[in-house]
Amino acid sequence: MQQFGVIGLSVMGKNLALNVRNHGFSVSGFSIDKPEVDAFAKYEDDKLKPCYSWEEFVNSLEKPRKILIQIMAGDPVDQTLQKLLPLLDKGDILIDGGNSNYHDTNRRFHEMEKHGIHFIGMGVSGGEEGALNGPALMPGGDEPAYNKVAPILEAIAAKNTEGKPCVSYMGPEGAGHYVKMVHNGIEYGIMQEFSEVYNLLRDVAHKSNDEMSKIFDKWNHGKVEAYLSEITSKVLAQKDDLTADHIIDHILNVASYKDTGNWMLEDGVVLGAPVTVVGEAVMARFMSKQAHLAIKSGIKPTKFEYKGEIPDDLVDEFEKTLQLAQAVAYAQGFQQLTMAADAYKRDLRYKGIAQDWEAGCIIRSAMLKDIEKAYDKGDKLMNLFQDDYFRDLMEKNLPALRKSVEFATKAGVPTPTLSAALNYLESIFNPNLPANLIQGQRDYFGAHTYLRNDREGVFHTEWYEEK
Ligand code: 6PG
Repeated sequence: MQQFGVIGLSVMGKNLALNVRNHGFSVSGFSIDKPEVDAFAKYEDDKLKPCYSWEEFVNSLEKPRKILIQIMAGDPVDQTLQKLLPLLDKGDILIDGGNSNYHDTNRRFHEMEKHGIHFIGMGVSGGEEGALNGPALMPGGDEPAYNKVAPILEAIAAKNTEGKPCVSYMGPEGAGHYVKMVHNGIEYGIMQEFSEVYNLLRDVAHKSNDEMSKIFDKWNHGKVEAYLSEITSKVLAQKDDLTADHIIDHILNVASYKDTGNWMLEDGVVLGAPVTVVGEAVMARFMSKQAHLAIKSGIKPTKFEYKGEIPDDLVDEFEKTLQLAQAVAYAQGFQQLTMAADAYKRDLRYKGIAQDWEAGCIIRSAMLKDIEKAYDKGDKLMNLFQDDYFRDLMEKNLPALRKSVEFATKAGVPTPTLSAALNYLESIFNPNLPANLIQGQRDYFGAHTYLRNDREGVFHTEWYEEK
């Protein structure tokens, strides 16, 4: 009997199954797409079994069955559950490893519970390569069921610098997919920050693609040690197959998305979480499409060129800018997690989440170790910048961030997320935000009342005399 099963054998499912097999566990694989099973069958050996029917697959697994569903999120997951249910036994464990919306995972968790089936919603990050060699895994559901699959998940997960597997229990119901959603919101935020810094290097500092590639590589060994620095350097260096140019100059500048970052923003709005960098990153993807449509329809682009001096140290300032802006994206992600934990009565383990993201996932970076340390101090941080390390980073790098935004403004280069990061830091500990005027206006036109800063109680002013 096989110890683990995988449904869905496109590249992610196939690679995860191979990863399980490569760690010494026996695995069955099944897909409703026969050519996928045929391709999988090429790896067949005493630990890897291709299956051609639901029954063959389910019957090949030892009990309680442990089945990873690695297919497109949405209806296909519900259809798969309906196919599986009559074939399963009470106590079997299903793991949804797709980018499912956590609302769906909450619902499926309870639907499966009624049938005595344990349902684990698990965020998987790291793409194809991660799936094969070590992804970051974010499982949620019921903890005893997680403990039964933990040995396999810990074996296949990426390991951090201390050798700890990048997988831990995230919380009940859809908590795993909630954390993956926040991961993706941060991913959108940091990716947009990188592209704005690329824009500054290209159009303000006038660096070539090869120069920029070297700069990002240097930063990857400096202040911005991160997977996204590594791949940004590689993307910028890549030559085109079809022309003599770099490929980056021929990639259409319209960003696609599959909504997972947008979902973080949706829930951020429900919670009242000020996740401004994520918000601007989502809007920047929308904006890229609008800008493209405008240019296509013949609208003349606005052209503004900065003619002034470029200071020698500007590139170093951009490095500090990206370091701090990246910290703001993480801070906003953790702030939303903290607010969600309160609102949804979840016991989220922030230190474990930071550890999970240290290797294998798209947002992995050296900074996550500092985040882990910040949450390890046992403080219930409302905000990451309350921690001494991050407060110090903010104080040291804030002038660079301000300078970058200043140069961008002078040069007419849009920096929605960098500006959002600056505004966030200017606001989050600011005792003088001008919301008192908003309260005055609200009370004036709608008698909405206000609180005072010098005494308790709820107040209303008679602003004008009725005629
Ligand atoms: C990961 C990624 C991945 C996601 C892609 C594409 O952690 O490996 O988050 O799960 O699907 O990054 O996302 P978008 O198409 O929304 O950009």
